[in-house]
Amino acid sequence: MDIRERPRRLRRTEAMRRLVRETHLTPSNLVLPVFVREGATAPVPISSMPGVVQHTPDSLRAAVTEAAELGVGGVMIFGVPAQRDANGDAACAADSILADAVRWTKATTGDALPVIADLCLDEFTTHGHCGVLAPDGSVDNDATLAVYERMALTLADAGADVLGLSGMMDGQVGAVRDALDGAGHVDVTLLAYAAKYASAFYGPFREAVESQLTGDRKTYQQDPANAIEALREVRLDVAEGADLVMVKPALPYLDIVGRVADEVDVPVAAYVVSGEYAMIEAAAAAGMIERERAILEVLTSVRRAGAQIIATYWASEVARLLRTSGA
Ligand code: PBG
Repeated sequence: MDIRERPRRLRRTEAMRRLVRETHLTPSNLVLPVFVREGATAPVPISSMPGVVQHTPDSLRAAVTEAAELGVGGVMIFGVPAQRDANGDAACAADSILADAVRWTKATTGDALPVIADLCLDEFTTHGHCGVLAPDGSVDNDATLAVYERMALTLADAGADVLGLSGMMDGQVGAVRDALDGAGHVDVTLLAYAAKYASAFYGPFREAVESQLTGDRKTYQQDPANAIEALREVRLDVAEGADLVMVKPALPYLDIVGRVADEVDVPVAAYVVSGEYAMIEAAAAAGMIERERAILEVLTSVRRAGAQIIATYWASEVARLLRTSGA
């Protein structure tokens, strides 16, 4: 036997494996999504997402303080309003639950933790769609852009560092960029959910935000079968001024993450969404997989595929784990 190449030499000890490890997960890569519920007096558990809650102002402050102390890369805020309407006015109010939560967070963690505010109407509309509806019931793209522009100014005024454009309307990045620049908010950063698929994995999120949606989002979110279309969406968003682009969900779309990362010169993010979280939590709770190893393996795979930033409900837990294990 003349085996000259023995890859196993590099796997002999943990120290050797660490020496040659290609992909590292660090707390600063991780963004923590949080839900804040208007009027809540105690944190409200989300049954399909064990360990995740709808926050009160106080529990939000505690969560973002902890995240900042752990070196987490950022926080992404979703508001759950008490009142909804058909045209998204509730989302544009200066004292919307989302704008308030941005202010509470900035007052707590300042510039230590970039604050990403979700810019989308689905939490705020009575019909649960990400935009406003035309008389025929379809989602009216251009009328929605005007509402996004107003919502963007509200969130920028509240102090958001980043706006997460998750509605998948055509032209949304350019419209919001122009509105912000026109109002002097030139430093507010845009994270485009450039390639957001119409996915079954958003199920638990819809419980988390008490979504009113009946039907689906297939006329604006992408068909899971399409990859080239994702590259087109990303190209358009970068041309319109996106500072960061995101692929969502993550695990079923790692090929898209990789292709997008090859294509663009802005940082790429991926969102490990609620259904991906629930799937691992459920399997672990049933004793079917080792929870922590599975979580680290999943997040590492998303980094390896090419995402620099990962939005994950495990952000603070994993940041603590990485810190104590020194991995
Ligand atoms: C919509 C939005 C969704 C998620 C984030 N923003 C759901 C949807 O499109 O229905 C899903 C996030 C998750 O599942 O964790 N603004």
